[in-house]
Amino acid sequence: MLSFPVTRGVRGAITVEHNTETAITEAACQLTRTMMARNQVMPNEIACLIFTVTADLDAAFPAAGARKAGLTQTPLLCTNEIPVPDSLPRCIRALMLLSTNLGLSDIHHVYLGDAASLRPDWAGQADATPMSPPFRSTILDIAPYQPGKPISELQREKGLTDIIKMASNENPLGPSPKAVEALHGALDSLHIYPDGNCFELRRALAERLQVNEMQLIFGNGSDEVIKMLGLTFLEPGDEVLFCEPTFSEYAYATNLMGASTRVLPLRDHAYDLEAMASAINPSTKLIFICNPNNPTGAYVNQQAVDAFLDEVPDHVLVVFDEAYYEYVTAEDFADSLSYVRDDRNVVVLRTFSKIYGLAGLRIGYGVAPPHIAELMHRVREPFNVNAVAQIGALAALDDVEHVSHSRDSNVAGKEFLYRELSRLGLAYVPTETNFIFFDLGRDSGPVFARLLDDGVITRMGGVFGCPTWLRVTIGTAKENRRFINSLEKAL
Ligand SMILES: Cc1ncc(COP(=O)(O)O)c(C=O)c1O
Repeated sequence: MLSFPVTRGVRGAITVEHNTETAITEAACQLTRTMMARNQVMPNEIACLIFTVTADLDAAFPAAGARKAGLTQTPLLCTNEIPVPDSLPRCIRALMLLSTNLGLSDIHHVYLGDAASLRPDWAGQADATPMSPPFRSTILDIAPYQPGKPISELQREKGLTDIIKMASNENPLGPSPKAVEALHGALDSLHIYPDGNCFELRRALAERLQVNEMQLIFGNGSDEVIKMLGLTFLEPGDEVLFCEPTFSEYAYATNLMGASTRVLPLRDHAYDLEAMASAINPSTKLIFICNPNNPTGAYVNQQAVDAFLDEVPDHVLVVFDEAYYEYVTAEDFADSLSYVRDDRNVVVLRTFSKIYGLAGLRIGYGVAPPHIAELMHRVREPFNVNAVAQIGALAALDDVEHVSHSRDSNVAGKEFLYRELSRLGLAYVPTETNFIFFDLGRDSGPVFARLLDDGVITRMGGVFGCPTWLRVTIGTAKENRRFINSLEKAL
């Protein structure tokens, strides 16, 4: 695997029994899918796909098969081959040009059926990879989630022991001690199914947020609640509006359901609500607003949100993802729950993964007005939130000390990092979260790699389409100092 993308060609060929439109389309579809699957390629990595067909095939354009395989945005070309005596009859050949990190030896060329005789050397290689049954082509729009590098992986790769992870916006102070204590008593009951309704947690949280208990939708992380929003509301033809760069799960839920994303750029690193209001159309079904935004840390304020919601028509559901809400210090941050209490078409997402320090337990929630919650409860799996997570979250909710200590530590770390990044001449985005996004002004890959060599895991901006940026989670005072020392060395 290379650390930067290069252009590579994947070759493929297949023969058809008959010169008919159906046979050619199906064969081209099978060939395209197989070339993508065997190379684990997403449609957005394909620069173009060129087909050639033997002169005995004239019934159809194989591009129809490639579109059927999900390549609706990819440039597709087709031409007849110059007839060659004794060439393999009724043959479709393909050349797929990729922008990829795969090395030359990782490329799998695909020669199916009789076409295997054209390149026995390559055909054998491809046959070693099993073929999947036909799958939903919409999933090819989904890139597998790329998490921050786990500590154990870096330990294995580099043999390092002293590693700090500042990549996934976890709480550097660890889990709520009250949650940990409560969990000790939970292990004897692991043989019992969890309470599917999260009764105790629901009651405590509803009281805290001043909403009705059934307005809470719990998930296996707020990730799952985002997926539940997709399952409840999205169908092919619907549009989902959000800005970029942002949290990847909005695109995931959209593509999973076969709906379309409509993506606008951020303005001043935060969601551009004015542009979003203008972009709403009759197909718009869901709008995600990541506030404060991941990966930039910037936020939209109450006034901007008020003005925006005045413009949103009734057929649209607006989702405020507030995963970092408890870290926010800005006084004009929008009180989005007030819209939920007013029965607007608004859902607010929060999580126990961040300030409560329970990312490993997987529990988050949505707060929705009753008419929306009632729909979402229908798609929830019976025991989607595990028993241990419920016990930990209930105890963490009461751990006021841990939350306030975490918030104070974050503010101190933020000020330290602002000062140090400025001293190093690096521009950063002021943050309302527990991470900082900063610009190196050049490819951040080599600096990211040098930090890794030093045992410091950060997040490369390239994952978010910002190749000169890095995102660092605000750590403890000691971790922040170590990060700055390593960064200074790496620069
Ligand atoms: C903006 C945003 N939303 C949601 C999540 C998912 O959180 P959870 O752990 O609750 O699934 C994250 C996690 O990083 C996030 O950054």
